[in-house]
Amino acid sequence: MFGYIDLRSDTVTLPNPQMMEAIANASLGDDIMGEDATVNELQRRASELLGMEEALLVISGTMANQVAIMGLAQRGQEIIVGLDSHIFNLEGAAMAAVAQVQARPINVQNGYYNPEEIETLLSSGDIQKAKTALISLENTYNLNEGQIVSIDNMKDIKQLAEIHNIPVYLDGARIFNAAVELGLKPSELCRHVDAVQFCLTKGLGCPLGSILAGSKEFINEAKMNRQRLGGGMRQAGIIAAPGLYALDHMIDRLIDDNKKAYKFAQKLSIIEGITINMKNVQTNIISLNITREEMDAEKLTSLLKEKKIKVKNIGKKRIRMIVHYLISEEDLEFVYHNIKKIVEQ
Ligand SMILES: Cc1ncc(COP(=O)(O)O)c(C=O)c1O
Repeated sequence: MFGYIDLRSDTVTLPNPQMMEAIANASLGDDIMGEDATVNELQRRASELLGMEEALLVISGTMANQVAIMGLAQRGQEIIVGLDSHIFNLEGAAMAAVAQVQARPINVQNGYYNPEEIETLLSSGDIQKAKTALISLENTYNLNEGQIVSIDNMKDIKQLAEIHNIPVYLDGARIFNAAVELGLKPSELCRHVDAVQFCLTKGLGCPLGSILAGSKEFINEAKMNRQRLGGGMRQAGIIAAPGLYALDHMIDRLIDDNKKAYKFAQKLSIIEGITINMKNVQTNIISLNITREEMDAEKLTSLLKEKKIKVKNIGKKRIRMIVHYLISEEDLEFVYHNIKKIVEQ
């Protein structure tokens, strides 16, 4: 980590030596021709893990989300999304600019999608109103908070969607952080959605890639849309090889990240001049509010950087920290003492 304790995101993780070795030894081929054995194996393993018919390797979570939208909605239609979701906030308005659909954002409180509210927003479309094409969930929800959407909530949304004949998509960038916390198999968490993506690059620690999964028909369409976005790849086994390593070795350990994050947040929350909504610390993400008048996020971020600690400034009085596999208990202890010292002095 070049001497820094980097808590800005779990995307800052570097591939470990075993991943590098897997890359060096990967069996490669032309993936557009379906001939990369490592990619094929990763896709097979990932679809099994998620309980989906097929899976497809794409370059990023953003590409997975947009390819999914392109496959599940048509131009001029509408998608229900969480107000704080990545799809709605951090994809360069791709759903409008690329997929050509419009968002109908809803408030998601503590990881709860309100089915009654969603029902009032569903539209079958007419000459003026856009048809609701898709309900897009995110679990864990809110990249600044990492809240868990319960399986019951997902089930209720799916039941509602079925009545109205609308597919449900899951941006599961960090789905495994939720699965280990709930003690559920990833396939159980995906049972109530039609398609899902997860990122290899977050807590799993890979350098690149996301997996999109769903029905055979959906994945066929996704392959075409990935190609249209320039996302068809050749010897993509160099991306898939660390992915395979991650499925075997990096999922179960996510519970440690979640636990470390909670313990760290609990300690921070009693520092005078800081508040943390502990109800929202459910996985590996912590959002911290600065209540001390003379301190703000910019100042705290830059003072921490002088101590070789990186955190993310996400608002005037708000910072975010994400725990990942390169962060030890000792690192968090060091960060805790520095935050306490800076905020209390
Ligand atoms: C919830 C969520 N979805 C999607 C993405 C997009 O992933 P990528 O950065 O690989 O495009 C992210 C990335 O932070 C995310 O947090």
